[in-house]
Amino acid sequence: MPDLAIVNGTLLPLEEARVPALDRGFLFGDSVYEVIRTRDGVPFLMERHFQRLCASAGRLGFDLPFDAQSLAGQVRRGLGEAGFTDAYIRIIVSRGFGPPNIDPRLVRKGPSWILMFLELHVPTREEYEKGIHAAIPQVRRNDRQALDPAIKSGNYLNNILALKEAIERGAQEAILLNKDGHVTEATTANIFLVEKGRYLTPPLEEGILSGITRALILEKAAAEGLPVQEEPIPLERLLRAEELFLTSTTRDILPITALDGRPVGSGRPGPATKSLMDRFRSWAGEIHRKEKAAWAEGTM
Ligand code: PDD
Repeated sequence: MPDLAIVNGTLLPLEEARVPALDRGFLFGDSVYEVIRTRDGVPFLMERHFQRLCASAGRLGFDLPFDAQSLAGQVRRGLGEAGFTDAYIRIIVSRGFGPPNIDPRLVRKGPSWILMFLELHVPTREEYEKGIHAAIPQVRRNDRQALDPAIKSGNYLNNILALKEAIERGAQEAILLNKDGHVTEATTANIFLVEKGRYLTPPLEEGILSGITRALILEKAAAEGLPVQEEPIPLERLLRAEELFLTSTTRDILPITALDGRPVGSGRPGPATKSLMDRFRSWAGEIHRKEKAAWAEGTM
C-alpha cells in the first residue's frame, strides 16, 4: 500500500496530494504541524500532540478546523487504509488560501489541513548502539521574541540552516545555541546531557519546543526519583558533558557520541543514557498498553 494523504477530507495517494499555489503554508510557512507515530498500529500520545497543535495555531491566531475526536476519526481512517504496521503521521494545518500578501486578514478560505501517513522509519540499530555525531553551528536558534521555537510552525528555515551547516561539517545533527550562548535543542529534537550522574535539559525559557518525549521523560523520571532537572546549559557545560542524547517522537532517546568532531565522554553511549533508554521503553510500553485498549474501544 502506498503512502497516503487526507487533504481537507479527501483520501488519496500521498504522491497525488496537492496544495494550491496560493496556500499561505506554501507562500509564507503560515501553518502549524505535528508528527505523531504509532506503536503497534496505535497512535502514541495523540491527545498531547493535538493539544500542542492547538496551542501552536492559537499563537498564530487561528483555530483548528477539527476537534480531537474528529482528528482521531481521520487518523483511524488513514491508518485503516494504509495497511503498514507502524506509521509516521504528519498533521499540517495552514491558515488557508488567499492573495500573495502577508496580511492575515486577506485569507479567503481556511484553515486547510492535510494528514500524511507514511511508513515509520526509526533510527537504525547501529545508530542506537553507536550514537550519532552532532555539530554546533554558527546559526543560532530563533529568539523567543522573534519566531518563538515553542510554536511548531511550518517555518523551519532556522532549523534547515543549522542542519545544513552540521551536515557540511560531517555531522548528522546540529545542537543550536541561543543568543546568550546557551544550549537550546537539536533541529527536530530536544537535548539532554548527563553531568555528574544527573540528567539535565534546558528549560522552556531558553527558547525550545516543548517536546512531548522530553515532557514524558521529565514527568516519569521525577516520579521515579531519577535525578533529572531543567537548567540553563552554557556552551562550556555542553562541551564537558559526560553523555549526551536527543529525544523526539520518531527517535525516542538517541545517543550523541561525538560533538564537533570530539568524542562525548567515552565516545560510546554511556550507562546513564542506556539505563534511561531502558526506562523509556518500559514507560512507553505501559502507556501503549492503555492506549491500545482505548483505541480498540474507540474512546481515544
Ligand atoms: N520534531 N524540537 C523540535 C524543533 C522539533 O521539531 C521536535 C519534533 C522536537 C521533539 O518533540 P517531540 O518529542 O514532541 O517529537 C523538539 C518532529 C518529530 C519532526 O519534526 O519530525
